[in-house]
Amino acid sequence: MKKAVPFAIIAIFIFAFTRPTENPNKYTYKKDVQPIISMYCLQCHSGSSNSYMHPCNLNGYDSVKISVLNGTFRDRVLVKKDMPQSPLWQVGQHLSQEQLNVLDSWILAGTPLE
Ligand code: HEC
Repeated sequence: MKKAVPFAIIAIFIFAFTRPTENPNKYTYKKDVQPIISMYCLQCHSGSSNSYMHPCNLNGYDSVKISVLNGTFRDRVLVKKDMPQSPLWQVGQHLSQEQLNVLDSWILAGTPLE
């Protein structure tokens, strides 16, 4: 029985160091991107008819992915930085550099859902 203890310790070490390492900084749609979009984009891009009648629907992962794949999302949010647009009564609704970094890394990582 006593011999089993060192083996158990070795086994734990092997397990700890050979585990597939998951990147703890990986941004996902569910955890990081969806909250940004609901707060900054959906008031105009919810896909409903009263959302300023704009056709670009960002409501849900599939819709956001379409706009990432056709290049408009990156163009407007990260290159031109003219989205989110500020409604007149909400001056200065811009994304922070940190939020832009999250979106950039998420797109580069291939838009993981979770
Ligand atoms: C106050 C309303 C408003 C907000 C908030 C807003 N948008 Fe927009 N967005 C528009 C309007 C209106 C257009 C169409 C006119 C234009 O292209 O400038 C547009 C266009 C776009 C387009 C181009 C779509 C296309 O097919 O060419 C993208 C992409 C976009 N928005 C993404 C976003 C993202 C991402 C956010 C949040 C970070 C956001 N928008 C926030 C009103 C808004």
